[in-house]
Amino acid sequence: MSKRVVIAGAGQAAIQAATTLRSEGFEGEILMVADELDLPYQKPPLSKGFLMDKLQEKNLLFKTEKFFEEKNVQLALGEKVTEIFQVNKAIKTNKGNVYDYDSLIIATGTRNRILNILGSELEGIHYLRSLEDAKSLKQKLATSKKLVVIGGGFIGLEIAAAAKEKGLEVTVLEVQDRLMARVLPPIISDIFEAKHRDKGVDIQLQKSATAFIGENNHVTGVQLDDESIISADLVVVGIGVVPNDDFAASGGIKCSNGIEVDDFTRTNVEDIYAIGDVACHYNDFMQSTLRLESVQNAMDQGKISALHILGKEEAYYLVPWFWTHQFELKLQMAGCNQGYDEYFTRGSIEEEKFSIFYIKDEKLIGVDSINRASDHMAARKLIQAGVTPTEEQIEDLDFKLKTLID
Ligand code: APR
Repeated sequence: MSKRVVIAGAGQAAIQAATTLRSEGFEGEILMVADELDLPYQKPPLSKGFLMDKLQEKNLLFKTEKFFEEKNVQLALGEKVTEIFQVNKAIKTNKGNVYDYDSLIIATGTRNRILNILGSELEGIHYLRSLEDAKSLKQKLATSKKLVVIGGGFIGLEIAAAAKEKGLEVTVLEVQDRLMARVLPPIISDIFEAKHRDKGVDIQLQKSATAFIGENNHVTGVQLDDESIISADLVVVGIGVVPNDDFAASGGIKCSNGIEVDDFTRTNVEDIYAIGDVACHYNDFMQSTLRLESVQNAMDQGKISALHILGKEEAYYLVPWFWTHQFELKLQMAGCNQGYDEYFTRGSIEEEKFSIFYIKDEKLIGVDSINRASDHMAARKLIQAGVTPTEEQIEDLDFKLKTLID
């Protein structure tokens, strides 16, 4: 039985693992080692409510300092794990500290992909991942007039929507031919594109930046591959993330796109687990090996790793779900929305209140809901249970989908 659990990271997955360990009766030591200095906080609101001044910093905290004291969860903040000593069962940090573990949970998440082009060092070019990033971006949004967002993914578009609502002129440059192509099918991408355009966001597809132009060391524009220049006094880059798994190789841990784990969140090295955005697993519902960048996955894997350490084997078999909120569109995604044979629509696209049900081999594989939270909740249960409603049931708003599984 483990006496000392070390958790590398202090995000959603890490907090969940620590909380579950304690709620399931673990009485040993828990140490969380994380490179940021702030008390552990939630990241999803940073690009939404926090930027829009609807949520304050104190509301982002997962737990107060009191929780860590009462639950006896020790924090080593401002320390980055740099090495794992597999044989001695210890980790080393950039401060030179060495911490022993009986079980190690890696929950180090991801970092932003950096756009290295001419002028990258200029002031006024921002990224968003940490609370620090969000605070400095928020300040800049209050005084800037013209924002160029590079990357039409979740982060870029959520920031574009927030900036537009704050009155800035906004251009989004997306290298692909549609928005959020990594996670959404064309039908939903098109709806978001129309909404952004309608709100006055200048969406430029199949465009990439080749250089940042500046004056007095501050960005004044973005040069595109066709040599044209879009003026800007603020730039945000949101071109995806990479897993923080660099140190894992020192411990002999297998990585591909992130740290490879099984259904119990175990890595190939005994007593070392990986959870959340950094972990790569085969997902039955998505029918592929992938990293899930979502709160839900972080929480589920956090729980599963803690339970496994306590000798309770609960395999990961859960429908993935995600959400984004841009202008009036609250999109909730359940399951897989790629590779479908056909889809059926429930509700009204014109009224921006509908769900798309994706069917493959006559089986429901995923549902994207816009402003229909009840469909989303039912969809998660249906997909999990392997129940497929008929076309008529999907399209009939009077039919209660949840009755199929209750
Ligand atoms: N120029 C323009 N667009 C680019 C470039 C580039 N050089 N490189 C990539 N892109 C585009 C991609 O085509 C994609 O549409 O940037 C977008 C990045 O989108 P995501 O991969 O969804 O990444 P991002 O929006 O940064 O979000 C990262 O953070 O909070 C989480 O849920 C969020 O999982 C997501 C992650």
